[in-house]
Amino acid sequence: MKNIFITGASRGIGFEIAKQCLSMGNHVTATCRNPSQANQLFLLQNQNKERIEIMELDVENEDSIRLCFEKLKEKNRPIDLLFNNAGVIDWSDLFEVSISSVEKIYKVNLIGCLMVLRLAIPCLQQSIAPLIINLSSRLGSIDLRGEIQLGGAIAYQCSKAALNMLTKQAAIDLKPLKIRVISQSPGWVKTEMGGVEAKYQVSEAVSLMLNSLDQLPSDKTGIFIGEDGKEIPW
Ligand SMILES: NC(=O)c1ccc[n+]([C@@H]2O[C@H](COP(=O)([O-])OP(=O)(O)OC[C@H]3O[C@@H](n4cnc5c(N)ncnc54)[C@H](OP(=O)(O)O)[C@@H]3O)[C@@H](O)[C@H]2O)c1
Repeated sequence: MKNIFITGASRGIGFEIAKQCLSMGNHVTATCRNPSQANQLFLLQNQNKERIEIMELDVENEDSIRLCFEKLKEKNRPIDLLFNNAGVIDWSDLFEVSISSVEKIYKVNLIGCLMVLRLAIPCLQQSIAPLIINLSSRLGSIDLRGEIQLGGAIAYQCSKAALNMLTKQAAIDLKPLKIRVISQSPGWVKTEMGGVEAKYQVSEAVSLMLNSLDQLPSDKTGIFIGEDGKEIPW
């Protein structure tokens, strides 16, 4: 049994990670900013009473993150696998996007992940083989960026490229602590963010992701992979 920690578990990919990790027999700490409204999570809790804990965590609020990890430390709960999943998008392009939206997207997609990653270290160090997964996107790949306009979600693309640098740097900085860090894109998934036209059902994408993480060689860190486990160019 592994101890899994997820941000943004109220819906979408985060919720599905919680559901599938529970069905595999793991313990899940499912965090969200408004537990009182996370009805789906409470249904999961009814079915898996001992193995799921629902906790409040708003990735935009450092106090909320600190409090969550302090509670976990008090309970001596290690983290084997941490999913930095909470994320937001704005599809506006370079010409349209408001600066307040750029700030919001960076706050959730980059700064939130950095704060979670840093404050989680004591709980990660209690695991034998701790791994952090930063939920990234092919839209954040500079190498894959062509010369055509492709959605032009400028703030989101920049935030995920920056998140990828956080992955690379944190993998180096945390290596002496034996904490591995990778970026993973879930593919294009039918969630509120991905929309109905997306390629994957959420259950399919998460199953591919978890399967590929299971097969990931134990020395791999500081890489960017897709839902299938194949490396994506930065
Ligand atoms: N769907 C795709 O096609 C796709 C593709 C590539 C990458 N991704 C990445 O995968 C991750 C999950 O995406 P998704 O498709 O599941 O999106 P989603 O359906 O829109 O869900 C986003 C989740 O993030 C949470 N969240 C937003 N702001 C938060 C905050 N300040 N604190 C805590 N939680 C917060 C939301 O919580 P509330 O319920 O409280 O709003 C929700 O649980 C994101 O990082 C996204 O960038 C998705």
